[in-house]
Parts: sequence; structure tokens; C-alpha cells
Amino acid sequence: ERLPGLLAASPKAELHIHIEGSLEPEMIFALARRNGVALPYAGVEELRRAYAFTDLQSFLDIYYAGASVLLHEQDFYDMARAYLARAAGDNVVHAEIFFDPQTHTARGVAMEAVINGLYRACADARAEQGISASLILSFLRHLSEDDAFATLEQAMPLLDRIVGVGLDSSELGHPPEKFARVFARCRELGLHVVAHAGEEGPPAYIWGALDVLKAERIDHGVQAVHDPALMLRLAQERIPLTVCPLSNQKLCVFPDLSRHNLKQLLDAGLVATVNSDDPAYFGGYVNDNFTQTFAALPALTARDAWQLAGNSFEASFAAAADKRAWQ
Ligand code: HPA
Ligand code: ZN
Repeated sequence: ERLPGLLAASPKAELHIHIEGSLEPEMIFALARRNGVALPYAGVEELRRAYAFTDLQSFLDIYYAGASVLLHEQDFYDMARAYLARAAGDNVVHAEIFFDPQTHTARGVAMEAVINGLYRACADARAEQGISASLILSFLRHLSEDDAFATLEQAMPLLDRIVGVGLDSSELGHPPEKFARVFARCRELGLHVVAHAGEEGPPAYIWGALDVLKAERIDHGVQAVHDPALMLRLAQERIPLTVCPLSNQKLCVFPDLSRHNLKQLLDAGLVATVNSDDPAYFGGYVNDNFTQTFAALPALTARDAWQLAGNSFEASFAAAADKRAWQ
């Protein structure tokens, strides 16, 4: 079987990665020591054992605890350099990276420390590894729209350092409509807009992300298969879905990877892509997602692999000339 080798070797874009979700347990403890932050886990092994998730919220509780070790600009830099080195090793030539500033500003970390650390990592990784990377500021949907507006205000002086905004955290009970005004403002500011929708939430949340937020991509979106009219729209308007198979497995969105609907999405003509979401927590980076998903779903073909890589570039916010060069 040559497909795993082809999948790994193929140039690809990664469009759904939360940088805080790339913090490996070893780096969490190293930063905790460096910064004098106490953790409710004795060590790496105990922390890893806690990665037994039953749903999105059970993951988010641990993910926010892990992020609590990030205090200084250098911490954000080190975290992003480590991810970008791993991604480059997976032949990722372009990454669009989510970060959750409210997780940090709520602890007294300055917005400048967050954005400048991540941005400097992207610039250095481009210079030293040749990987292209941009940043997407993601609002936490369990917080209020006022809090999102305050966060946007703090980011205003640094807006040239981000390519767009997203919406993540606890989905159920926090529909896209809650953020209609702040997303309208972001669009006025010329930012790209994406949103997590249809990970655990119903197809109505995907409709809301499209019609109210005017999302250009849907993050996850796997629940769309339950709504044929929505499937038709996503295909016809070529609205990409940034699918994260190992994440879906670990958060019990599907009972098992062999029950994932990636093949259905592709066969319906949707612009689906494969991504890692939170690779340190879900058991793999993007190539692990490709190889494990193709192993679990024998219906996926070499043509699907080629389509997924092409989709990742089509779905990206990179310049048209770069997309042509990578494809
Ligand atoms: N869903 C929602 N919020 C998140 C995720 C996710 O998969 N990862 C990090 N924040
Ligand atoms: Zn995500």
C-alpha cells in the first residue's frame, strides 16, 4: 500500500489548528516550571492519563488548564515554533493558526504578548523552514459578545498581524447569532471570517454561521450530513469544511474513526479538508489524521487523497499566486 507514503509526502495546507492545542504535556510542564505556575497534575504521565474525553466540554476543561502556563511573549513564540516545525515535517507548506486570546487576557496576559509572540514565530518559521503561516483570532463563544468586542478592541493596533477571526469553545447553547454584530464589524475591517459549527451542534448552527456571520469556511461541519438542503448549498457555493477526524473520534462525535463521514462529504462534492484541531490532545498531527483516517475508511481512494490536498489550498486564505505554486 503506497497511499500512506503519498499522503505523508504530499504538500498540504493546515487550516484548523488551535495553537494552544499543540502544547505537548512535556512543554506544559517545562513552561509551568519556567513560569512558576502550579498545575493540578503531578506530572506528564498523570496529565496524559486525563486525556480521556467524552465530549467537547470534557476536553475544553483540560485544554484551558494546559494553556494556563502561557504567560510571556516568549512562551507563545516557543509554542508556535514547535508546532510549525512539526507541521513542516508533515509537508505542511501553509498553516492558518487559531489562537484564543481571551484565555490569556483573562489571566492578565497582554494582547501584545500573545499576538507578537505568535507572529514572530510565524515570521521566523517562514525564514528558516520555508513554511507560510498566518493567524486567526478566535472568539470564545461561551463568553459574551461584549467580551468579544473588547477583545477586538485590544487587537486593533495589531490587526495587520492577523488574517481573520473565528469562533470556538463550547458550541451547544451558544449559536452563531450571539456574535452577529462583532462578526459584522470584523468583516467591515476587512478580516476573513470563519466559525466552528456542526461539530456537536445541529445543522441550524451551520446555517447561522453562513447566513448571519457570513462565514467563508465552516470548522468541523460534519453534522451537515443530517440536512440535505445544507449539503447542496455547501457543495454549490464551495464552502470549505475543515474536518478533524482524530478530534471527532476523541470527542466522541463519531463512535469510531471507521464511522466517520469524510467519504460521504467528499462524494457529495463538498470542499472537505483534513486537519489536526488540537494535535497534542487528540493523538496526532495532520499526517497522523490522514494515515489513520485512510486506514479506518477503506472506501477512501488515492483520488480522494489528491482531492483533499487540493481542497486544502483552495480553501486557504493564501494569495492566489501562492496557491497556484503549491498545487
Ligand atoms: N471545538 C471548539 N473549540 C475548540 C476546539 C474544538 O474542536 N478546539 C479548541 N477549541
Ligand atoms: Zn477546532
